[in-house]
Amino acid sequence: MNTDVEEMLSDIRTYNEFIQPYETALSVILVQLEGIQKDLERSLGHKAIHSFRHRIKKPASILEKMERKNLEPSFEMAKECLTDIAGIRIMCYYIKDVYKIAEILKKQLDVIMVKQSDYIENPKPNGYRSLHLILGVPVYGVNTKEFYPVELQIRTLAMDFWASMEHQLCYKSDRDNKEQMAVQLKEYSQRLNDMERELELFY
Ligand code: GTP
Ligand code: MG
Repeated sequence: MNTDVEEMLSDIRTYNEFIQPYETALSVILVQLEGIQKDLERSLGHKAIHSFRHRIKKPASILEKMERKNLEPSFEMAKECLTDIAGIRIMCYYIKDVYKIAEILKKQLDVIMVKQSDYIENPKPNGYRSLHLILGVPVYGVNTKEFYPVELQIRTLAMDFWASMEHQLCYKSDRDNKEQMAVQLKEYSQRLNDMERELELFY
């Protein structure tokens, strides 16, 4: 086999080994979420979770983030510094249910809370809103137990709509009306928030 191919295969193997515990941690939370979704629907009498998506960071995206954060590009460093290698985004109808789901997840046996950022109570300066949790999930080896982070972004449909639009608009960085767009996005965020608070009254 030529050495380039060998090197590539070895890189793939290294990534696969590195990523496996994150996949395990992610699947643990996904199974819990399925249960929570059914339980909540039964107890609340309405669907709390509209939908959820999950993703595992690809090697290129890991490298891009390490570069952006001025970190040495290695898997060891990624393991030490990145908490969003495994991620889940949960979309809810009501703000109240965003917090309810967070509370239930935090109480799951063996899962630890690493960090919570409440960008609903304290939106980012650009208007971004969501509740972020980093959960530590135990992954067991033959004789080992190690916690791996899973990042959860819990938000309403309106928050997801706003974040998707903002992401889409800000990707086109060659606009000449960027400042005006930023002002408008922030105002849209405020208006969506007002609308959601009113809808909350129908909960
Ligand atoms: P990252 O380096 O981007 O992961 O940020 P961080 O480690 O400081 O964490 P933070 O809680 O700020 O953001 C984590 C993730 O939330 C991001 O990767 C995005 O998915 C989402 N997010 C945060 N801020 C924004 C924003 O202003 N707009 C959009 N569309 N998404 C955001
Ligand atoms: Mg991220």
